[in-house]
Amino acid sequence: MTKSSALGKIILFGEHAVVYGRPALAVPVTQVHTDVDIAKSSRAGIWINASDVNLHAELNTLPSDHPIASVIHNFLFLGRVSPFPNLEINISSTIPVAAGLGSGAAVTVALTRALSSHLNYPMSDEEVNAFTYEIEKLHHGTPSGIDNTVITYAKPVYFVKGQSIETFKAGQSFTIVIGDTGISAPTKESVEELRRMWRNEKARWESVFDKVAEISFTARRAIEQGHWEMLGELMNENHKLLQEMTVSSPELDKLISAADEAGALGAKLSGGGRGGNMIALVTPDLAETVSSSLKEAGARNTIITKIL
Ligand code: MEV
Repeated sequence: MTKSSALGKIILFGEHAVVYGRPALAVPVTQVHTDVDIAKSSRAGIWINASDVNLHAELNTLPSDHPIASVIHNFLFLGRVSPFPNLEINISSTIPVAAGLGSGAAVTVALTRALSSHLNYPMSDEEVNAFTYEIEKLHHGTPSGIDNTVITYAKPVYFVKGQSIETFKAGQSFTIVIGDTGISAPTKESVEELRRMWRNEKARWESVFDKVAEISFTARRAIEQGHWEMLGELMNENHKLLQEMTVSSPELDKLISAADEAGALGAKLSGGGRGGNMIALVTPDLAETVSSSLKEAGARNTIITKIL
């Protein structure tokens, strides 16, 4: 049997502007993951069992653009696998779907690595990343590539589309509370709507994206030097710009106010927005208090994570 796992991710700064070539910062979330195992099957075909999404099916009975089927089809094509083996593929995940935590990219990375090792078709991290990006493009329109990059390398990343990967390291560890609105919001839609707005008023949005770029750049320095007050302020500023982009929502704003009132140093939405998750920067002693306040303000779930 072959096993592989991939972690979730959160974007700390720069979502949406990153699609337009501005820098963004993202980090892995070790508390949530996708696990894949593959074994030889005694029945004919490639069987996929993903109980979390109630999927138990043979590959060829699924539409070819099904998110899991498309990974397998593309992998078999890439690796020129013939004849097709009989496989039992089990997928399980604790990463909430359509919540900004990179669930889709994590399934692709874990599944690709498991197939690569089970079928003896070695792939480097660069190849897994490039393959996952192609799959992301099939389902998400015009992704920047930040999700597949953070998830493939499982390291904090200062990401600029089309440029080689730069990782960064915090001067001291810091604590983030993630609050899930419980509202599933496909990133594709918020990205497409912002693109429509950008087409109508390019100068306006380019200037907003420039402000985000400045924030991401400064935030990286603040993280490296351990300037947490400043980092919190930068989160608040980034959130205001995301509100201007119309990708926040009343539920996200409510959680962000709750975090602020509970003493967080700063808070913002994270990922595509319109639902999904928000993040709050906290001192470690306040993590539990902020987490409880988020739940009282309607968060379906919270995760406390330490960024090293
Ligand atoms: C999604 O995790 C982040 C967005 O910036 C889209 C992307 O980068 O592809 C909203």
